[in-house]
Amino acid sequence: MLTAGPAGCGGSDDDPHGGGGSAGGNEGGRGGEGGIGNEGGSGNEGGSGNEGGGDEGGGGSDAPTPIDQLALTPPMGFNNWNAFGCSVNEELIKETADFFVESGLKDLGYTYVNIDDCWALRERGADGKLVPDPEKFPNGIKGLADYVHGQGLKLGIYGDAGTKTCAGYPGSLGHEQIDAQTWAAWGVDYLKYDNCYNESDGSQEDYIRRYTAMRDALDEAGGNIVYSICEWGQSRPWEWAVGVGNLWRTTGDISDNWSSLRSIIATNVRLAQYAAPGHWNDPDMLEIGNGGMSLTEYRTHMGMWAMMAAPLIIGTDLRTASAETLSILSNKEIIAIDQDPLGKQATVVADHDGLMVLSKPLADGKRAIALYNSTDSLAVISVPATDAGLAEAEVYQLDDVWTGHSVHSKGILVAGVPAHGTAVYRVSPAPAPGTLAPALSVGAALGTLISGHPEGATLTTEVKNQGISDAAGVKVDVTAPEGWGVVAENPSSSALLGSDASLGTTWTIHVPEGTLAGRYTILVTTTYSGGDGGEISLSSEIVSVVVAAPRDGATHLSKLYPFSSENAVGPVELDASNGNEAPGDGNLITLGGQVYTRGLGTHAASEIVYYLGGRCSTLTTDVGIDDEVGEGGSASFTVHADDAVVAESGPMTGADGAKTLTADVTGATWLRLVAAPGDAGAGDHADWASPVLVCGGSSEPTTPEQTLFSFESGTEGWGIANADTGGTVSRSSLFHTDGDHGLEVVAPTDGNWYGRALDEPLDLSAYTTFKFDVKTGETGTSGEIALQVGEGDSWCQGGLWTWTNASSSKTIRESISGIECPHGVALDLTRVTGIWVYLKGGTFHIDNLRAE
Ligand code: GLA
Repeated sequence: MLTAGPAGCGGSDDDPHGGGGSAGGNEGGRGGEGGIGNEGGSGNEGGSGNEGGGDEGGGGSDAPTPIDQLALTPPMGFNNWNAFGCSVNEELIKETADFFVESGLKDLGYTYVNIDDCWALRERGADGKLVPDPEKFPNGIKGLADYVHGQGLKLGIYGDAGTKTCAGYPGSLGHEQIDAQTWAAWGVDYLKYDNCYNESDGSQEDYIRRYTAMRDALDEAGGNIVYSICEWGQSRPWEWAVGVGNLWRTTGDISDNWSSLRSIIATNVRLAQYAAPGHWNDPDMLEIGNGGMSLTEYRTHMGMWAMMAAPLIIGTDLRTASAETLSILSNKEIIAIDQDPLGKQATVVADHDGLMVLSKPLADGKRAIALYNSTDSLAVISVPATDAGLAEAEVYQLDDVWTGHSVHSKGILVAGVPAHGTAVYRVSPAPAPGTLAPALSVGAALGTLISGHPEGATLTTEVKNQGISDAAGVKVDVTAPEGWGVVAENPSSSALLGSDASLGTTWTIHVPEGTLAGRYTILVTTTYSGGDGGEISLSSEIVSVVVAAPRDGATHLSKLYPFSSENAVGPVELDASNGNEAPGDGNLITLGGQVYTRGLGTHAASEIVYYLGGRCSTLTTDVGIDDEVGEGGSASFTVHADDAVVAESGPMTGADGAKTLTADVTGATWLRLVAAPGDAGAGDHADWASPVLVCGGSSEPTTPEQTLFSFESGTEGWGIANADTGGTVSRSSLFHTDGDHGLEVVAPTDGNWYGRALDEPLDLSAYTTFKFDVKTGETGTSGEIALQVGEGDSWCQGGLWTWTNASSSKTIRESISGIECPHGVALDLTRVTGIWVYLKGGTFHIDNLRAE
């Protein structure tokens, strides 16, 4: 009998979002950190720390503090959810508390160390009380609270205004008194109160009733507990929760990606009037340090949270955090803006084409100003200072919170801000402008970067003096990735740049042949001096897209890197329908009952642009509204080759199934796929199903694929690795992505491996990826792929996928680089002796195991 590879998949045991939640998925890997930009220390001194915020030490023993006296500034602390999900325990909380003390984060105002979901046992005790899981919390929550208080910090816990928490632990609906008393007796200082399994009729009255019941219970239990309402903004809590909670979530769950951050900012930024000392809008916990965004984006996260007077609840593993992460989280000036005792949330004073200016009055009479660029290119953002609420003055002093530089400007607030970046300044009329260097704004425009293009692309930079005095020794430098050519076509420096004068430079950038299509960073650095200060250096990062002409042959568009891709909701999904916010949260594309393993999942209005370089001839694709939205959704599909419309679907609804479009794209440089919303309103999932582009006169597939098992003739020898731990396999027609049949697998809670040892070793060395299609009704299930390369324990395996949406389908992929072998075993793809998939806890339908 075979010995299975290590049975565990290395992730958490519990699924994060069991019910009613609004979270995006957690599938797939995380991107690396990408940004460069303005590194830098914390700037000027002067952080104010966590003013107010209730009594020290916590513990519920003193006389109750009235709710509006708690959280006089936005709470600061840590919560385990974003980085650890359900994997919470005493050690993590203690080590985080220790870290707060040792790293100085405590002195900066970070106070609350909060436990999220999954801390309790699945059942209440015989006395009706919640019971801390003794394996995770051997000293109970009381013991942990004592420890945390001993460090001069406060402890937070999590409950739910429903019958169960989001991860399925006991909820507090109908148990408000006993739970509030339990938490108070343990010495808990902060409660996050969630909204899963809420049995609600959806009315605001019901939300008020459920959340006020816990408010009253907390008061009865002795108060002094900061109350964090977490109902995802569903009942507009800002309208009713003043006097009930100290903070209220305004949106669904954040996830660690740019589209999530941007959409949360867009919602929360509109709610400024509702925030004040004692009650705050909560746009959710911080993702800084979790790896899915660039440093520029994480600085936007921190900067905008501070501008919005949002709670600063760290959501990363501090024990392994990088220096960059800690420098963002511990920027004193940013913290001081967040914690300013006036307690005002910034208002939006300008908002055009994705460029936004926010203004936050501060207790010292100055203003915090943020210039936020949500677009994908570097932009110069400016606004007259008086529009931002500043008193009329000829000249203003701008203290840059991230770089620590102070400069002056003439009547306007202005900066060149990188894509997804935010400049944050403390601004006041300048008492002595002559001593300060002038503000220089740096703008840039970049043409299309084409891999190997002989003429290269043009970059123009423009540096403008926005102050009243000269800038001396102005010098502009452009740094491109190694091996690229950068040539300045005219001067890039100026000995003296007077007020209002500009230095414009044209550069030619050559991208070497063979450069892979993708995103690359070009850095424009401007150095100068002025006033009494030393040299100032401005870094303006340009995130550029390199395109490459498609290879000869037939290419699935999901394999081609687009020049640009815009979508109404979340990102365009590859080989899946549009989920919502997070990348990878869709299902397999399904039109009129047919499942497609390839395609693009959009939500109209959407536009995706590809570079063809005049090398292609036809595009063939099915289009339609995904079955998952029912018959309601509607959209129309148009294919453009340069400026000509070469195929169009006309209006389609969910009742129309799939239409096939064939487009002649001969000679075109650009291909544009447009999905426009139809009359039936929001909610379409507009799919481009199996779009195939033919280029260079050949129609051979550019990425050959080999189907290894398709289950058309039965179970094809598939069995169970550890027969004694259970499970079944049978052929099924309920879900299939090729032919008419797939496999049904029923897997035990602890999981098992399904697959087979091969009669003859297979040579799979031509491939780089292994994949199979799955549909399951369960959440929390997971899967892995193993390739066996010899006898016994020679299992090389990789991947971990968790389902956060019940009844979803997707293609599970694992690339060779993600497959790891036991010590001493090499992954020899020329002699694969067995192929297995790991499935855990539920009924699965799988099909079409293939190598690509
Ligand atoms: C909901 C909340 C999250 C987290 C999880 C825990 O989704 O919004 O912040 O607490 O539940 O299950």
